[in-house]
Amino acid sequence: PPLDEILNLHDFEAVARAVLPAKAWAYYSSASDDEITIRENRAAFQRVWFRPRILRDVTSVDWSTTILGCKSSLPIYISATALGKLGHPDGELNLTRAAAKHGVIQMIPTLASCSFDEIVDAATPGQPLFLQLYVNRDREITKKYVQHAEKRGVKALFITVDAPQLGRREKDMRMKFVDDGAGAKVQENQKDVKKDQGVARAISSFIDPSLSWKDIPWFRSITNMHIILKGVATPEDAILAYEAGCQGIVLSNHGGRQLDTSRSGIENLVDIVAALKTRGPWPNPNFSIFVDGGVRRASDVLKAIALGASAVGVGRGFLYAFSSYGQEGVERAIEILRDEFEMNMRLLGARSINEIVPEMVDASALRSH
Ligand code: FNR
Repeated sequence: PPLDEILNLHDFEAVARAVLPAKAWAYYSSASDDEITIRENRAAFQRVWFRPRILRDVTSVDWSTTILGCKSSLPIYISATALGKLGHPDGELNLTRAAAKHGVIQMIPTLASCSFDEIVDAATPGQPLFLQLYVNRDREITKKYVQHAEKRGVKALFITVDAPQLGRREKDMRMKFVDDGAGAKVQENQKDVKKDQGVARAISSFIDPSLSWKDIPWFRSITNMHIILKGVATPEDAILAYEAGCQGIVLSNHGGRQLDTSRSGIENLVDIVAALKTRGPWPNPNFSIFVDGGVRRASDVLKAIALGASAVGVGRGFLYAFSSYGQEGVERAIEILRDEFEMNMRLLGARSINEIVPEMVDASALRSH
């Protein structure tokens, strides 16, 4: 369908499913094992209900915010999703260019199809970028990569901590990996590439499963970028991250692609905020909580913010948008979300992100299933 008939982020998914080659669809859409967590990511948002306030003069509403010191036109960042060229010949650059035009922040994946420098070169001067990091067994490779990123102006490092081994995504594993260039720029050191178990396994063999809390001071010693742990799921680990001196955490289950039957980020948010409140003043300007997984509507984002998140990440929503329509698809997705923020904030009675408070949601059903 023509782009102006796309009315929401779900529509992009339907188009992507119809137009993508089977291998790309399998890699993008799959989740681990029985795919229970990926379904729960959507379902959990539906258990949070709004408590809207009325008669507040909502003539003008503003949904812009600051994420880790960077201006953002939406309380959403583009989360890292690997292998953009499986979906579209321009790969991740679709995201970079749309993000530049609309003041949105992109998190560059370690396993991007385009090289890191190609992506940074496609950005406009001063455009804020984050970097997602898979840590290599060879720490020198990781150190060079991180320091190069900092030199090129990347503002924050999101270390993925929920993937010491990639999950079994069976839809993807049924596909044979053929290196057709989409993954060619992937890191060196891929000695034991397994070609008969899907895309994910073929590209991820360099990831170091020995990564531990002891490595966090080392990261601090090699970079001044903000350090955020992506893939925290418990209050215990949230507190360890805080005590380790990280600047934030992403409550994420990797879009349901790692440990199946993990809880969703939105569900874990309530307990994690409560735990962090015991460690000092909240909200804490030096420690941010982000949520990702299943976000398809501005209303999902508003719920996460009400419950204490600074911003949320969107993965597949934007991935499906550029797979279907390239850069214009991503721009349309951003415009749709903007429209949804305007309407939903008016209806909720919040004129700015600061006015979205815990009392605006009823989360009592979150744990009743
Ligand atoms: C991902 N995600 C991911 N995360 C990460 O830290 N490194 C990576 O390389 C990837 N790659 C990746 C590929 C694909 C195809 C998907 C769908 C996801 C996880 C991603 O950053 C984010 O956590 C989820 O995508 C959020 O869930 P939604 O928005 O896709 O529902």
